[in-house]
Amino acid sequence: MRLRTASLMALVTFGLIGAGGLAFRTMSTGPRHIQYATPAKIPYPANDPFSAAKLALGRFAFYDPQLSGPGTIACASCHIPSLGFADHRAASLGAMGKPMALRTPTLLDAAWGRLYGWEGKYPSLADVVTGAMVNPMNMAVTTHSLRQAMAQEPDLQSKYAAAFPAKAPSVDKMARALATYVRTLVAPPSPFDRWMQGDPNAVSAGAKRGFKLFEGKAKCGVCHKGFAFTDRSFHDIGVSTGNDLGRGAKFPSSIKLQRAFKTPTLRDVALRAPYMHNGSQPTLASVVRLYNKGGIKRPSLDENIHPLGLTTLEQSDIVAFLKTLTSYPEGSLEIQSRR
Ligand code: HEC
Ligand code: HEC
Repeated sequence: MRLRTASLMALVTFGLIGAGGLAFRTMSTGPRHIQYATPAKIPYPANDPFSAAKLALGRFAFYDPQLSGPGTIACASCHIPSLGFADHRAASLGAMGKPMALRTPTLLDAAWGRLYGWEGKYPSLADVVTGAMVNPMNMAVTTHSLRQAMAQEPDLQSKYAAAFPAKAPSVDKMARALATYVRTLVAPPSPFDRWMQGDPNAVSAGAKRGFKLFEGKAKCGVCHKGFAFTDRSFHDIGVSTGNDLGRGAKFPSSIKLQRAFKTPTLRDVALRAPYMHNGSQPTLASVVRLYNKGGIKRPSLDENIHPLGLTTLEQSDIVAFLKTLTSYPEGSLEIQSRR
């Protein structure tokens, strides 16, 4: 099955088959299949439509350390493909070698996002990518450093010229090309998807029990819902956050948004410990323990978070289920780009 997935992804990557080639993920026969099936088409904004030239530029730039001001890190230094486009750090490490305030989130299925960043500070993908580029703590890109990078790298220059003919180097345009590439990072099919499509042997009995708890008694599915297992909204789930008020910093009068952070997708989640916006939970088992305890009690705590009374077996069943959302083993390098 690994090989089949790998060769399928290779076909998609090299453009030999289009999105239709992944239709088996959406061949739904019941409501549950529909609820958890990844849409066949990636959405693109009307003011920033797909172009093959933008994708080629974005894909190249994503892996190019020359893009950063000091020439030391690429997007892929933090958003590492083999780790579900995140990393194993509690706080990400910027171009200046200093830790940043937040953990690197995954980029999988970001095309379907609503607001970006853990606190929803960015209204579009192009905005958050621009933020990552120009932030002096992150990549420290300036128009000047971009011009220099292009002058030093004929490949970058020619790809830019193909995507934006007769246009001067601009951070904004480069961000649009990178956002185009990020949209193509769709989580590939996992054992969970094969189970949903009718293969009863794709996941273990424990994982099946875990999924039932996830959707039922443990209430996880209230927030982690749909094909990407996220409501794309913000909640305080009772994580210890120190002075960080999360989305509440922007909305001081909202009680519920204090210490609220974005619900992350759970696809490929096993690849990117430690967890939460601040990496405060070392393993999936500790995440489930936190939910079972009910998190820190405070006025902002979401009403769906309370002690769950799960047995040890029930907790490990939920972890077994979470692991079935992994499409490929850690360390394998599959480029997950599709149009
Ligand atoms: C130093 C590590 C680092 C680098 C390099 C980096 N990022 Fe990020 N990225 C982060 C962190 C940390 C966040 C969360 C920021 C926040 O929540 O405000 C983030 C957030 C994002 C998001 C939003 C994801 C979501 O669902 O909310 C996108 C998209 C993204 N980065 C793309 C990129 C691209 C493209 C590049 C290269 C231009 C890049 N990043 C470079 C660490 C990094
Ligand atoms: C009230 C909404 C809500 C409920 C219910 C909920 N979650 Fe979450 N989940 C979130 C939010 C929000 C975060 C991010 C919190 C943070 O970063 O501080 C999160 C984070 C996680 C993470 C870490 C992912 C990562 O990449 O860091 C896992 C794993 C997870 N939840 C699993 C579960 C499980 C299992 C359950 C049920 C026992 C559950 N969640 C119930 C909203 C919810």
